[in-house]
Amino acid sequence: MRVLVTGGAGFIGSVTGRALRLAGHEIAILDDFSTGHDWACIGKQIFRADLRDRAGLDAAFGAFRPEAVMHFAAKAVVPESVANPGLYYDVNVVGSLRLLEAMRLVGCRKIVFSSSAAVYGTPEKSPIDEQAPQHPINPYGRTKKHFEEVLEDVRPADGLAYASLRYFNACGAAPEWHLGEIREPETHLLPIVIRATMKNQPFTVCGTDYETRDGTCVRDYVDVRDLADAHVRALERLRPGQGAAYNLGSELGTTVREVVAAVGKVLGKPVPFRDGPRRAGDPATLVASCAKARAELGWTPRRPLEESIRSVVEFLQSRGG
Ligand code: UFG
Repeated sequence: MRVLVTGGAGFIGSVTGRALRLAGHEIAILDDFSTGHDWACIGKQIFRADLRDRAGLDAAFGAFRPEAVMHFAAKAVVPESVANPGLYYDVNVVGSLRLLEAMRLVGCRKIVFSSSAAVYGTPEKSPIDEQAPQHPINPYGRTKKHFEEVLEDVRPADGLAYASLRYFNACGAAPEWHLGEIREPETHLLPIVIRATMKNQPFTVCGTDYETRDGTCVRDYVDVRDLADAHVRALERLRPGQGAAYNLGSELGTTVREVVAAVGKVLGKPVPFRDGPRRAGDPATLVASCAKARAELGWTPRRPLEESIRSVVEFLQSRGG
């Protein structure tokens, strides 16, 4: 299939682009490079455009004529969404609507959308399945929920085929492809802890008084290469006029302190940290049930956290730390 990968210069988009090529698909990348990287792109078909720029989108769709879109491009930092909600609605909702319109004009009726566990907000029970109530607690989560609803409305009206993939905590790297997570400033726990240990500069544990087994937040860390595999499966199973949402996680809950211990074990040295106050808007526990993805996509998360940690270390070392 010819697949246009929006956000293909970013972390999950770039790894999935490689996986798509390995699976025999032809890809082109559309990215505004606001947070993506040139070094993460493969192939010659790279379109530098903002989702909100219809002329840029139409040029990409006209030149590549994709049969499907994988839509990763988004603003995705929760505290930034609280500080600047308008930007998040503009890029994640308005930009995504423009993308749908550009797809419609060329008869492209398949989309795999990067959604998030953030659509659930603070869950009532754990693990979380796709039927759990959706009460997002920040603008980022609300923009993801809104666009999922747009897809579900457009599906019957337009014969659209979609899959909304709700990632829990994406982590890891693909050092074999020289791909991984580089963001300045870094906001995600795993790269923060690994960098802190490599540079011997303490990081802060955000909250130690949660109702969890050691007082720190429990999260579900899922390897980016497992996520990429789920995307390829979701794409290949899209059927006209059908749509579904899938949770993608490891189904294992890991506390911040357990992440610290695992990084220390892999790197063979103590992790420097200090305990700090809670971060605003953090639910105590977020763990996925992925029964639906297992049953319908034939997907299984395979890589344990230690392997993800090793892949990040290898990737960071290959880039000089
Ligand atoms: N944390 C620290 N110290 C840090 C950074 C993070 O203790 O320096 C803690 C956080 O408080 C949280 C855990 O580590 O308990 C994980 O934090 P991340 O920022 O890595 O990830 P989040 O769980 O906040 O965010 C993830 C996704 C978002 C998504 C969100 C849903 O990255 O896209 O889950 O709640 F919106």
